[in-house]
Amino acid sequence: MNLPSAHPLASGKTSNSLLVRSYLGEKTESKAIWLMRQAGRSLPEYRKVREGVAMLDSCLRPELAAEITMQPVRRHKVDAAIFFSDIVVPLKLAGVDVEIAPGIGPVLENPIRTRADFERLEELDPASLAPITEAIGLITAELGETPLIGFGGAPFTLASYLIEGGPSKELPVSRAMMANDPDLWNDILAWTARVTATFIRGQVLAGASALQLFDSWAGRLGLEDYKKFAAPHSKAVMDSLLDLPVSRVHFGVQTKDLLAEMYGVGATVMGVDYETPLDEANRILGGKVPLQGNINPDFLFKPWAELEAHVRDVIARGESAPGHVVNLGHGVPPETDPDVITKMVALVHGDI
Ligand code: CP3
Repeated sequence: MNLPSAHPLASGKTSNSLLVRSYLGEKTESKAIWLMRQAGRSLPEYRKVREGVAMLDSCLRPELAAEITMQPVRRHKVDAAIFFSDIVVPLKLAGVDVEIAPGIGPVLENPIRTRADFERLEELDPASLAPITEAIGLITAELGETPLIGFGGAPFTLASYLIEGGPSKELPVSRAMMANDPDLWNDILAWTARVTATFIRGQVLAGASALQLFDSWAGRLGLEDYKKFAAPHSKAVMDSLLDLPVSRVHFGVQTKDLLAEMYGVGATVMGVDYETPLDEANRILGGKVPLQGNINPDFLFKPWAELEAHVRDVIARGESAPGHVVNLGHGVPPETDPDVITKMVALVHGDI
């Protein structure tokens, strides 16, 4: 599908940006950098505008979501904005009773665990994405030549919340379902794939110049289980987005053993967690895939000289890949001093 003519990529506004070119495998004159969770609690201006507003409500107020998306771009001069929302927003818009509990994450009063629970799920009507489309219109107007990244959760990571009812490391209910009722498991993940794909497509059509699929918890599955129970559903998401002319980034934590498989579902760029050095990730992927990552967030709390040496090491290792966008190996921790982030961005740009 062609993008609407006013889309920042179709009109050429973002096509020459460092981010878009690096994602396409170009070695750019200076490295592009953005950070997962660059918006959020590390910023005092975020804490201020979020006062008294529940997390998911803030995602559905277009002016507020636009303001929060722009805050880190204005402050840190990063090379991309990531849309301020959450992986569970499309579930909420499809009618699931999910909330985000402060300091905990997504929680559901009534998890989806039986065939009857599944049968009550409704499809996501693209028309209900209006608050998202509206927010993205405001954002791209302010961004100009800086690209916006749209995103969604991969079916496995989303289903882990839907089925467990909240964050869970061991995933006991999910594992029991995979073993005992694989048909129900597959039906739930196929629904989740359609919902998250609708959410991502809506963001791209509204103005996002790249997309990222977050399978944050995929590393909790071994390779065989990933292939059997998660990958086909992530592939369904990517397949349904293939007609959109934007780069597709795929990311999860502790996914060294899954990198090749996660690439194979239809990604064009791989996000690498902080445990896998970029030169090693590049080797695993056969030297043909642009990479994103992977500064260890722990270094944000170390003396500047140590952080600087680490960032230079990440950049040097990233040189081995066809293209490299600098990022963290997971999100910005809420306790981070925002001035350290600003300085790190300047370092990556060669300004200090
Ligand atoms: O700046 C950005 O990265 C864009 C916005 C964004 C949020 N969530 C906002 C958010 C993105 C891309 C996400 C994705 C997301 N949400 C993932 C995948 C990325 C990852 O971190 O692995 C996951 C697993 C979720 C689910 C989720 N939502 C969790 C685990 C939490 C954290 C709970 C907590 O309070 O620590 C959330 C809430 C959330 N999503 C916050 C933000 C800024 C914090 C809410 C707050 O400020 O109160």
